Amino acid sequence: MRKKVTKAIFPVAGLGTRFLPATKSVPKEIMTLVDRPLVQYAIDEAREAGIKEFIFVTSRGKTALEDYFDHAPMLEQQLKKQGKEALLAELKASNMDSGEIAYVRQHKALGLGHAVWCARRLIANEPFAVILPDDVIAAETPCLGQMIEAYEETGGNMVAAMEVPPEKASSYGVLDVAEDMGSVVRARGMVEKPELGTAPSNLAVIGRYILAPSVLRNLNRMRSGAGGEIQLTDAIAEDIANDVPVYGYRFRGQRFDCGSKAGFLQATVAFALARDDLREELASYLAEVVQLGKAAQ
Ligand code: UTP
Repeated sequence: MRKKVTKAIFPVAGLGTRFLPATKSVPKEIMTLVDRPLVQYAIDEAREAGIKEFIFVTSRGKTALEDYFDHAPMLEQQLKKQGKEALLAELKASNMDSGEIAYVRQHKALGLGHAVWCARRLIANEPFAVILPDDVIAAETPCLGQMIEAYEETGGNMVAAMEVPPEKASSYGVLDVAEDMGSVVRARGMVEKPELGTAPSNLAVIGRYILAPSVLRNLNRMRSGAGGEIQLTDAIAEDIANDVPVYGYRFRGQRFDCGSKAGFLQATVAFALARDDLREELASYLAEVVQLGKAAQ
């Protein structure tokens, strides 16, 4: 019987420079898509996939994120008094139970691999998930849930993968595919941010992972990779040589890169259009804007 995946690491210690000056005081993960911070989408996805322990790797300046997960008894009381039951239910749904959330600190932004390594003592010897909250995925079955189902068959390491155009591959970790089985591919290697024209495939890794504890041991070596950072991709790829297979999983759903401004704006529009209370007003506004744009051309 495979060990169940019940722990997830959320690395949120990056500097978020692409959103400066906002990220001078607001952690990127607290920025809101419609009315919920990015991190809430990540928590909901993890919980739906059966995750019970939520481990955040944070850094200086992220206290707003820790505060977000505190209960708000005064606010709850106020909403109750005002009879705002729906809002109260929404608020309560974002509460975390005592003890299900833990924070560890990454003292220096040395890379995603290093951030994950910082949580090693809370993982011990079991498989675990990693979720990057700035990759938001709209899907009928949440992406991590799809992956856990596939992982129960395969074991090993599993990364979420999606096809990208060749000119975009150098922004991602890219899989070198040994065997393509449809939604699952087996990798013979992985390259982080390959130089233009050298990517081994068009399958890019995005921010969902299910990893074996051996990856944490690989990270112990602290090898720096692309951009001088300690890369998670490299530590996962090392496992292939140790006979722990690595699989890419082509998830069903739409991924938004909310770490970039254009991606964040696209996600805002898509998530707002998916809401009954906003769709009509926003859609007619967008139609108007498009008309104006056409007229101006
Ligand atoms: P990004 O590459 O998006 O970096 O990190 P960033 O610092 O968040 O943003 P920019 O590029 O400066 O705008 C991907 C994920 O890895 C985490 C980030 O918090 C984000 O969730 N990360 C990255 C860490 O936790 N620590 C690091 O040292 C680097």
